[in-house]
Amino acid sequence: MIIAVDGPAASGKGTIARALAAHYGIPHLDTGGLYRAVALSLRRAGGDPDNEGDALAATGFPDGLLADPELRAEETGVLASRLSAYPAVRAALLKRQRDFAHQQGGAVLDGRDIGTVIAPEADAKLYVIASPRVRAERRATEMTGQGQKADIDVMESEIAARDARDMGRDNAPLAQADDADLLDTSELTIDAAIQRAIALVDARLEGYPKG
Ligand code: CDP
Repeated sequence: MIIAVDGPAASGKGTIARALAAHYGIPHLDTGGLYRAVALSLRRAGGDPDNEGDALAATGFPDGLLADPELRAEETGVLASRLSAYPAVRAALLKRQRDFAHQQGGAVLDGRDIGTVIAPEADAKLYVIASPRVRAERRATEMTGQGQKADIDVMESEIAARDARDMGRDNAPLAQADDADLLDTSELTIDAAIQRAIALVDARLEGYPKG
């Protein structure tokens, strides 16, 4: 069983994907973490973000980078969004994601192109959204929780810029797959969003062979 969860920054897709993985007892891959690791690797190597070759070289990052606290920094996300537009970077990360999706027993993956490119054959697909203001507020709460300063208006414009880049790129743009269920979390608590996600996936998995 493959569950694909896509959506823009701070829509709640990561939290929902983790909860689905726990609920169905299958592993989860945060594919944004891979692109963030490329960004961190390029920065630490002193690479040039405008050079596709430097970005491609950074896809050979050591796995330890996936647990680096700097991975979650907003600037890492912004750089990841720039580098993820390079076709060579996306191609280099493709096999790892497809292999994860097709492992025995199934998997949940969250990202931008899981339902459209990585696993178009997924059994259930969610496209998770929330209004830009709500997403900016969530990101700001996350940042202040980590002791960082956050300005909600600045966050909102950064999120809008990242959406535009992720949706506007030629290669694997962020988009709702035709057969994905839309889940708008703007007005939902985390628990309500998770319950709604489980109900949507259950409906898609009806008749799926058990065990
Ligand atoms: O957590 P947040 O939604 O802010 O970002 P993320 O999921 O960690 O992804 C960071 C960036 O990586 C995104 O802005 C995308 O540009 C890129 N990404 C992608 O292109 N494809 C994916 N499957 C996942 C992330």
